Amino acid sequence: MDNANFPIEHVDVISAKIYGEHGYPHEAWRRLRAEAPVSKLAPPGYRPFWAITKHADIIEVSKQPAKFQSAGRFILFPDAVAPPGQSLEEAPPLRMLVNMDPPEHRDYRRLVSHWFTPRAVAKLEARLEEITAEIFDDLAGDGGWREFDFVSELAALQPLRMITEMLGIPREREQWVLKITNQNFGLEDPDYALEGNTREERLGFLTEAAAYINSLMEQRRKNPTGDVTSVLAHATLDGKPVPAFELFSLYFLVMVAGHDTTRNGISGGLLAFLQHPEQFAKLQKNPSLVGLAADEIVRWATPVNHFSRTATEDYVLRGQKIEAGDSVALFYASANRDEEVFPDGEVFRIDRDPNPHLGFGVGEHFCLGAHLARMDLRVFWRQFAERCVAIEPAGEHEFLHASFVGGPKRLPIRVKLRPA
Ligand code: HEM
Repeated sequence: MDNANFPIEHVDVISAKIYGEHGYPHEAWRRLRAEAPVSKLAPPGYRPFWAITKHADIIEVSKQPAKFQSAGRFILFPDAVAPPGQSLEEAPPLRMLVNMDPPEHRDYRRLVSHWFTPRAVAKLEARLEEITAEIFDDLAGDGGWREFDFVSELAALQPLRMITEMLGIPREREQWVLKITNQNFGLEDPDYALEGNTREERLGFLTEAAAYINSLMEQRRKNPTGDVTSVLAHATLDGKPVPAFELFSLYFLVMVAGHDTTRNGISGGLLAFLQHPEQFAKLQKNPSLVGLAADEIVRWATPVNHFSRTATEDYVLRGQKIEAGDSVALFYASANRDEEVFPDGEVFRIDRDPNPHLGFGVGEHFCLGAHLARMDLRVFWRQFAERCVAIEPAGEHEFLHASFVGGPKRLPIRVKLRPA
């Protein structure tokens, strides 16, 4: 694969293999932005799609949900992920916020949005500080050198513990939530993909998740505790109980999106710091930069790489005629290095301000958990910068084989942390 020299229509920005073996294809996006920022691609194994690579174009599309709908092909999966005759994208196994459209989308979003406002999230900060400190205390030992995988032992734990506490999922279920989430986002990753050719086999984790979540909701219907599960278990729309399928879909989305993305942000952040140690030293010297650093990490790592929309009518974008029914893939990671918005976008700089990145999307589907994610990242990096005495890589890192979400899935490190 040589994204630098291939004819532009053969550039690969979508196969999970590219992401797994090389990380995000920034070189290919640079070419697309310069030579064909809105280009129709038809890589083998995928139905054709328009690759949207410019910051302004992603905003234009995202802010017109009636012309570019989320229902239908909302993520680009290869045809092979679904068995012949079936499509994951067009017959999705869930109806979540991310594949709903207004006005229905707004009604469902309102069921949970009050939990994720800046005010609601700020009330959880003290508890998050405790959760984070506990994780570092466990790992620090006596303050000597420790060697472990940063992703599973550190990055995954803090956001996972936070969202499961908010949902009221007990601590002993935490690793189960992690397993289900990895299977969901790792559909094409050799470490996580489930064996099988039928849709049921590939998506077996959803049946397992539904069984547990429905039983938890049932418990809360009988004995409400005030957690998010209790609120959802009693939720109504137009005075009627929320349909079970949509309710499970909403719950599942919050449960998995509420930590996987932030984990990839934390581990993507560490990779950036290992590659730019002067930026980590800067954070250690100036902890007040942590808010700006959190956003720069989201821009740099862009844990959610793409979402897709379907055009509902013909539309001309940057001179290209997109036809009704065409898919448009919004590559946030490309927009976050767009030279027109970030003249020094290839530089990782924790004091970047302003930082109008699109890492949380924009418009109708702007990330519901953005304030929570920012708080997770701020608290994590503030404590890590304070406690880290020394850190170095302890082996090669590995990337997730996926082009929907992305980041390091293994990051061996050797570290000295100040003990409790
Ligand atoms: C660094 C961490 C995170 C990143 C990079 C991220 C990124 C994104 C992006 C790009 C979208 C937009 C999708 C679109 O336009 O179609 C989105 C939507 C969403 N995110 Fe996040 N997210 C993060 C953390 C979280 C957290 C902690 C939650 C917890 C609740 C969450 C829940 C959601 C939900 C429910 C949606 C769908 C919103 C809708 O369709 O209305 N995310 N996220």
